[in-house]
Amino acid sequence: MQVPFLDLKAQYATIKSDVLAAVSEVMESQRCIGGPKVTELEEKIAAISDCKFAVGASSGTDAILNSLMSLDIGAGDEVVTTPFTFFATVGCIARTGAKPTFVDIDPKTYNIDPNLVEQAITKKTKAIVPVHLFGQMADMDPIMQIADKYNLAVIEDAAQSITSTYKERKAGSIGTVGCFSFFPSKNLGGAGDGGMVVTNNEQLYNRLKIMRNHGSNPKYYHKFVGGNFRLDPIQAAVLLVKLSHLDSWSEARRRNAAFYNEKFADTVVETPYINPDCVSIYNQYVVRIPKRDEAIVLLRKENIGCQIYYPCPMHLQECFKDLGYKQGDFPETEKASKEVLAIPVYPELTDEMKDCVAETIISFVGRSDIGVCGALD
Ligand SMILES: Cc1ncc(COP(=O)(O)O)c(C=O)c1O
Repeated sequence: MQVPFLDLKAQYATIKSDVLAAVSEVMESQRCIGGPKVTELEEKIAAISDCKFAVGASSGTDAILNSLMSLDIGAGDEVVTTPFTFFATVGCIARTGAKPTFVDIDPKTYNIDPNLVEQAITKKTKAIVPVHLFGQMADMDPIMQIADKYNLAVIEDAAQSITSTYKERKAGSIGTVGCFSFFPSKNLGGAGDGGMVVTNNEQLYNRLKIMRNHGSNPKYYHKFVGGNFRLDPIQAAVLLVKLSHLDSWSEARRRNAAFYNEKFADTVVETPYINPDCVSIYNQYVVRIPKRDEAIVLLRKENIGCQIYYPCPMHLQECFKDLGYKQGDFPETEKASKEVLAIPVYPELTDEMKDCVAETIISFVGRSDIGVCGALD
């Protein structure tokens, strides 16, 4: 049996006629920049995120970049974030000219450890960027307390966590802004790149809208240097079709996660920990597994897709060597990068496929009562 890591063709087969009709509508209108589809998607994403405003973006990366630029973050500023994330979080901070300052993660959730944030704050700190990794939100209450105490902006990198909740509050609605990605592998993924910023701050909303259009207002008069951060109407049209399925797709991912949790219950496989205050949308199902790299070889041989998110922490990336970090600075992040493994969790998986994934892993690690592999070292 083949179990790909993600099967977007299987999803497309269920919505093909609606997607084609929506794309065709945009093509017939020839409204190729902005327009009603983008506005409708912005309104709907704001609503499902319990936010007043939303601004479409050309990618999740540009949603973050626009947020940082609109908050006037740049040279001389510091921004506190996690080293265990996709590059875009940190790349955007660096591109504004600000300095990314890292703090380690909570090893259970993989999200930024709020207990370590305050000691990273200096007079130069302007913002905190918590990342809601794998579909689960970071522990936001203590982060917001620190932000309030030091008057810092909070940019929620919710690229992987649209509609997930923390204490019944939606991703993106707690910080100053929230940023989503519509990269095709996300729970709500387009037919290409796309993203969105949500906020409850009207002044910031107006600035985000101007910034995404080269800082131009009125046209050809530039108050500040922005970029082309616009969301395509064709992407908006596809995303509007998919949006009506988002909750059922996320529910299917939670069911798949529960299936695996049960399967791995008597094994040494460490299943994802979900904070009782959170509802995860399981953009990824990430386990820790002994002898992970050997397990990957076996899974590949058995035609089962898997991925490492993320094999090289941000503080050890070559492009950030001038920040002065070194191996050993963030032990939980470094440990996680050596142990984590994401396995297929997409909604269209069949029971047979999930069973095949779980049984292959179980046959590799053995059962803890038999003790083939022992605990993680
Ligand atoms: C945590 C995180 N931040 C930012 C991004 C950037 O989003 P995009 O790929 O849409 O630019 C991603 C997407 O992969 C992500 O996972």
